[in-house]
Amino acid sequence: MTVDSFFVQPGGSITGEVRVPGDKSISHRAVMLGAIATGHTKIQNFLEGEDALATLNIFRELGVAIDGPSAGNISIEGVGMRGLRAPGKDLECGNSGTSMRLLCGILVAQDFDCTLTGDDSLRRRPMLRVVEPLAQMGARIECAQAGTPPLRIFGGAALRAINYAMPVASAQVKSAILLAALYARGTTRISEPAATRDHTERMLESFACPVSRAGNEIAIEGNRELRGTDIRIPADFSSAAFFIVAATISSNSDILLRDVGINPTRTGAIEILRSMGADISVLNERTFASEPVADIRVRSARLRGIDIPRELVANAIDEFPVLFVAAANAQGTTTLSGAQELKIKESDRIKVMADGLRALGIEACATADGMEITGGEYGGGEIDSYGDHRVAMSFAIAALRSKQSIMVRDCANVATSFPGFVEVSKQAGLKISER
Ligand code: S3P
Repeated sequence: MTVDSFFVQPGGSITGEVRVPGDKSISHRAVMLGAIATGHTKIQNFLEGEDALATLNIFRELGVAIDGPSAGNISIEGVGMRGLRAPGKDLECGNSGTSMRLLCGILVAQDFDCTLTGDDSLRRRPMLRVVEPLAQMGARIECAQAGTPPLRIFGGAALRAINYAMPVASAQVKSAILLAALYARGTTRISEPAATRDHTERMLESFACPVSRAGNEIAIEGNRELRGTDIRIPADFSSAAFFIVAATISSNSDILLRDVGINPTRTGAIEILRSMGADISVLNERTFASEPVADIRVRSARLRGIDIPRELVANAIDEFPVLFVAAANAQGTTTLSGAQELKIKESDRIKVMADGLRALGIEACATADGMEITGGEYGGGEIDSYGDHRVAMSFAIAALRSKQSIMVRDCANVATSFPGFVEVSKQAGLKISER
């Protein structure tokens, strides 16, 4: 029998010190840039979750010598921009949209053909958002009729720079273009409708490849070389967010989260929660490679519903499932709009979260581009996470304030982003077990 459900008894306080695993977005990028750099790259605190491991395994398949991971340490012997080798099989991205979309940017520039594929969820996700700009650069990619994976990439294209106004705010799209731009002739210019996570830009700088930035415009020259480096990866803010909400909504809680990445393009949830009344202190700020890091202390607080400002949506995009749980524990109504991107994540996070909250007895109404949630008391029951890691963890956190226990189904994908979630949660005070 596979263990893929969480059984969580109601109540508990969240206390002590927690170090959540390494940042998923940064782990992907560190392996990708380390692989195509010249020289040696050492990575510390790499996320040993299935998504980042999918990226790592793909580079092994492409001929890159990688030692580890061992206790989060990896060492990569970079093969240089043109040193990847044709794979002997299809490249398996599993559940990971980041692997697939960013890899397209690198693979379109190689001189061999290859195929990228993934699990049922990934094979439903839209890929034209990367295929179209890359095609404008001269790349050749074929996808299924619906614009979905598998993606067949034809090598040997001579890439040229483009000026691209992104129609959606997506760091994955931006990053795919930036990676292809490294191989292109000329200077590529990208403008974003809203600032998205800038880990690729920051990490390129660490690999001695400067990127110009002004407002929401990014410019990068082509025909580049990267120089291998050492990268220490911060703890993932998106994983920390579960405990930020957990400590906020439960009574007598006080938790310290160590070494958390606080890149401003990621921490919209802090601003949202603070305007709902949360007590969050950001302490001991410092930098790992070119990423800002801090310890985050969170104490119990009474929340009130708010209208979430649209300008915070892109920078809190992965935190909405758990922010909806915060809203369910706030006094009054919280409304979110301008968040249609949530519908095409690992699940339709608007529908799946609204259904789950309603099953617990919370008033939650999905709208065309967001959600309206009125906080109040709620019961327990059985919730389907639809295989979405962040939905599963969010409903586990909800049990801190439920009247009865909550059983969350289909939780195996929690291992994509947060291996050890159950142990860390237990240690922090959640009454959780696996079934
Ligand atoms: C990611 C970007 C975001 C985010 C995803 C990781 C990345 O997606 O939701 O979990 O690492 O670039 P979009 O690019 O679709 O906004």
